[in-house]
Amino acid sequence: MDPMDAVTALLSPEGAGDPYPLYEALRPYGPVVSLGETLHLVVGYEAVDAALRDPALGVPDAAGMDGRWPEWRHNRAVSLFVTSMLRSNPPAHTRMRRLAAGVFTARRVGRLRDTVAGQVAELVDALPPEADVMEELAYPLPVAVICALLGVPASDRARFRRLAVDLTAVLELVVSQDQAERAHAAGKEVAAYLADLAARRRAEPGDDLVSALTQAYDAGGDRLTGDELLGNLMLLLVAGFETTANLLGNGTAVLLDRPELARRLADDEAFAEPFVEEVLRWDAPVQLTDRIPLRDTVVAGVPVRAGSQVVLLLGAANRDPARFAGPAAFDPARAQNTPITFGAGAHYCLGAPLARLEAQLALPALARRRPRRAGPAARRSRLTLRGYASLPVTVTP
Ligand code: HEM
Repeated sequence: MDPMDAVTALLSPEGAGDPYPLYEALRPYGPVVSLGETLHLVVGYEAVDAALRDPALGVPDAAGMDGRWPEWRHNRAVSLFVTSMLRSNPPAHTRMRRLAAGVFTARRVGRLRDTVAGQVAELVDALPPEADVMEELAYPLPVAVICALLGVPASDRARFRRLAVDLTAVLELVVSQDQAERAHAAGKEVAAYLADLAARRRAEPGDDLVSALTQAYDAGGDRLTGDELLGNLMLLLVAGFETTANLLGNGTAVLLDRPELARRLADDEAFAEPFVEEVLRWDAPVQLTDRIPLRDTVVAGVPVRAGSQVVLLLGAANRDPARFAGPAAFDPARAQNTPITFGAGAHYCLGAPLARLEAQLALPALARRRPRRAGPAARRSRLTLRGYASLPVTVTP
């Protein structure tokens, strides 16, 4: 297949439904597939890993977005992401990341273990005999956990699932007018909510991330601007929903198709970790991210111009035969399994330990209810955040 045809197919809803054959169509042209001078796709593991660590490649920040979509400031969802660390380059990124990493520590995540375990037990015990795993477990769990971490009252949780879906649409490679409008509305709603929550926590601080970040904001004039506080709070709120929900959904689909692995997961505590790592590799909930060269440079030996778009296909890198033997096979026993699903380098996912914890507790608990497919599952048509819209199952009491 011609690389241009493969990329066109990848950007269609069908391509997003099953991108893996299209990655294989691109691979012979890789590790960097250039479509003219403005778009490059990176499919090889080593090349993606090196690109993520290369300071010559920036994330699409405010300056980068000016070149791509000059009206982006009018879209509140985009402007929130662009003021967050996810879409900032040094020195702003370094400052914000240090601040967030200082409050979102491994210790804080460790302390959440009981909360996560409690939520898992509650949700899995409450599963009706016929359930949609996305509705009953995959979404509610990360929403509850992040809201607990941020100190968002339980009564406000329900609205965040829809808001997260609408907001994260702007992270896709192609965004429709309708999606952009919904994202803008969601951006305004979430910014107003978070500004109000920050004000309440400022008046009455608690042991939560909003209080900690608000205090950091207040502590020094140049440490965080008001917009950065909102952008980063929004990021922490939504970065963990869709992604973790899709990890739980994609992992459940594997369980449903491989009863022998489901049985092992139910019985053998030590199996949770390699199983979850292999789900992360084999069907990554984040399939891509992108970069903009800050100057003319090379990626894996291929020249790329300043301002062009470099798409890093994490999902393709995870199936690179040069890195993983028999990459299309789901094999939790593979040695040195290091999926690149949480990225690498300066923007490496801050929530990776939390996402892993949730999946390592939730998937075995679900496996113990012996789930079986109860109807066809439906995939979402998104590529960047890959997951299921619904996953109907029956479970034993
Ligand atoms: C399975 C679940 C998750 C996956 C696959 C995932 C994936 C990623 C990836 C690939 C990046 C880097 C993007 C880039 O380099 O352009 C990232 C960044 C980030 N993630 Fe996650 N994530 C997950 C869950 C979470 C959770 C639970 C949280 C927080 C509660 C979180 C918070 C963040 C933050 C704050 C960043 C930005 C870091 C920075 O820019 O320095 N993520 N994530």
